Parts: sequence; structure tokens; C-alpha cells
Amino acid sequence: MNQSERLRYLKKITGLSAQDIAILQDPSSAFRFDNANTMIENAIGIFALPLGIATNFVINGKEYLLPMAIEEPSIIAAASKAAKIAKSKGGFIAEADESIMIGQIQIVSLPISEESAKINILSSKKEILELASSKSRFAVVKDLQVRQVQDKSQHNKGVMLLVELLVDAKDAMGANIVNTMCESIAPVVEQLTGGEVILKIISNYATKRLVKCKAIFDKDELGGQDVVERILYAYAFAYSDVYRAVTHNKGVMNGIDAVALATGQDFRAIEAGAHAYAARDGTYRSITNWNKTEDGDLAGEIELPMAIGIVGGVASVHPMAKLALKILGVKTAKDLAIILAAAGLAQNFAAIRALASEGIQKGHMRLHARNIAAAAGATGNQIEIVANKIAEERTVNVDRAKEILALINKDN
Ligand code: MEV
Repeated sequence: MNQSERLRYLKKITGLSAQDIAILQDPSSAFRFDNANTMIENAIGIFALPLGIATNFVINGKEYLLPMAIEEPSIIAAASKAAKIAKSKGGFIAEADESIMIGQIQIVSLPISEESAKINILSSKKEILELASSKSRFAVVKDLQVRQVQDKSQHNKGVMLLVELLVDAKDAMGANIVNTMCESIAPVVEQLTGGEVILKIISNYATKRLVKCKAIFDKDELGGQDVVERILYAYAFAYSDVYRAVTHNKGVMNGIDAVALATGQDFRAIEAGAHAYAARDGTYRSITNWNKTEDGDLAGEIELPMAIGIVGGVASVHPMAKLALKILGVKTAKDLAIILAAAGLAQNFAAIRALASEGIQKGHMRLHARNIAAAAGATGNQIEIVANKIAEERTVNVDRAKEILALINKDN
């Protein structure tokens, strides 16, 4: 399909309006410099990225088209292929926790014991929770907990007390509201303990907002029993060696970040949480798990914190993010969380399947060749012709692409 055909198809499937389609055709009509200038400081322009659609995703029995904003070739093709293989065994099965975020208040210089300070805080728990709750009309303050942390840095500042608010951010990511709540209760906490509050901030380690997703990949469709065994070696490598684990997880994040970016999420928050979770047993490991089923198929699963939102923040104001959410048809933040997890699992499967069989360069180079052809000056259908030729010859470089282009131009 060309772009118009793709957009027509999207309009039919997702119910995008004619205006939505016009925005996709010309994003600058909806997101101008003025928008950028109100969003950040010292704006000088707008940085555009390709937006594409990964196909074949079936998650909890429902079909999805995944918008992905990404500069790397192969990602969308790989995700779509992985989702297609998963689909034949029922697709992705996923579940997400409630949207509980943790807000942290750090108290130092206590004039009383940590134990007494904790008792004081807990005996006023109801009032503190009410005060925090009064700051929001949508988020629900669920609880608070008090912890002690020993300074392990070279400054040896002793024991710090932490008050942690547990807030259900519902369909928001929650950073703004949780930070507001933490700031609002800080003076009360100081009064109750006699200590000094230093930080009041959300934690991006959203361990009470986990998402889990699993899928089965048919051994014959992925290349046979031998490939299953080789993928298990790839997993063993990523589980056991940090140098490999980082690259393995980078492949997972290729999928998650692409959808996160398209839907206007704070992908840095997702990244930070994911990597910390990958190291939760003290060693940084693969964030996915891979096993063999009794039938010899490949079973994959992923579990990670997913602090995302579909209301508030960029997701509500950026026209492209709004369109991406419309394409997905998500109604809640939980819906989006399971999609992100499926994207990560699919991307990881595609990467390790390719790495454990033919290697990634073959497919990658074929797609990369199109960039090279364009860089050499090819336009329109010349891009495909030049790209195919240099990929076939395995001479994917601009000089060779220019030579081929010159030949084509001479023939015409
Ligand atoms: C490239 O962007 C991602 C991979 O390196 C991931 C992996 O090695 O698993 C292919």
C-alpha cells in the first residue's frame, strides 16, 4: 500500500475522521512552532520522526494496530512478523495492575528516634491521607508507608526516614498529581517528626503498577525445533551476562519506546523503571523469560513496571499522540500498558529469533538500503530499485548507490 491507501485502510478500520487523516498527511498543520514553544523552553523548531503501524497484534483476544514512532528500520516489520506468529497460538495474553504510583518524602535530621517518628506519622495517617486526597479529583490516595534507609554513599549521612504515598493515578501517568500530593503533606510530616524534609517526588520505579504479558510461538512457524533451542541459548546468555542482557533489553525497549513515543508517554520513566526491574534480584538480567512448552513451542513472558497515562500530559495535548491513542482505541491506561508489554515481548522475540537463526544483518540491511538509496539522491520508485540492487550485491553504501542511480538516470 502507498500512504493514501494505508490511511484509507486506517480510516475504515479505526474510525479516524477526515480531519485526523489530514493531520497524519501533514502533521505541521496541527502541531506548529507555537505548540512546541509552549511545551518547552528555547524552542527552535520541531523534530519529526517516522510514524508507522505494526500489524497482526492480538492481545487478550482483541486485534490492535500499533502506532510506532521510530527511526530504526526493521522494528515495525519485526514486530508485525512476531505478532503474526503469536497470533496463530492465540496472541498475547496480558494483565495490568491498578495504576498505583509511589510518592516519596525524604526526612532527615530527626530529633527523635526513627521508631518514634514512624509512630507519630502512622498515628496521623488518616489526616495525612485526607490532605493528600484533597489535591485531586481523580487520583485516589490508597495508603502510606514509612521506611528507613541507611545512607550508603561516601557522605555517610546516617539513617533517613521515608514516607511513601501510594496513589492510584487511574488513567493518568501520575507524576504531576503525586508530586503535588507529596509537596502538600511535607510540612505536616516535618511537624510530626521534627525532622527536615528534603525531597518530595514520585518514584519512577512503579513496582505496584506492573504489567505482565505472555505468548506462545509455534516451533514450526519460527523455524523449527532447532531454532527454539538456539533461542533458549540466546535467553540463557541474556539472563546470565550483563553485557548481553543490556542489548537484549534494548531490543525489548525498541518495541515499548516506539509505541510509548507515538502515544506521548514519558519513555524515560518507562525505561528507568524497566531497567531497575531487570535488576531486581541484584543482578541485571533479561527482562523477558523464555521457555519451551510441552509441545516444543516457545513460550515467552515479560513483566515490568508500566507508568503510563492516556489523560493529562503530552498524551492529551499532542495531536499525533491523540491520534495514536485513537488508532489503538484504548479506553484506559491499563489497556495501553498491556499493549506496550506485548510490543516489547514481540520485539524481543523477533530480535532473538533472527539472531539465533539467520542473524539480523540480512533483513536489516535490506531495509537500511532504502535509507542509503535516498541519501544517494534516489526518489520515488528509484529508491526501491537502488535499494534492492545494493542489498543484493551486499554493497550497501552511498557511493555504490550513486553509481547505480547514475546508470538508471542514463538509461532514462
Ligand atoms: C537492535 O536495535 C536491537 C537488537 O540488538 C536486540 C538484540 O540484540 O536482542 C537486535
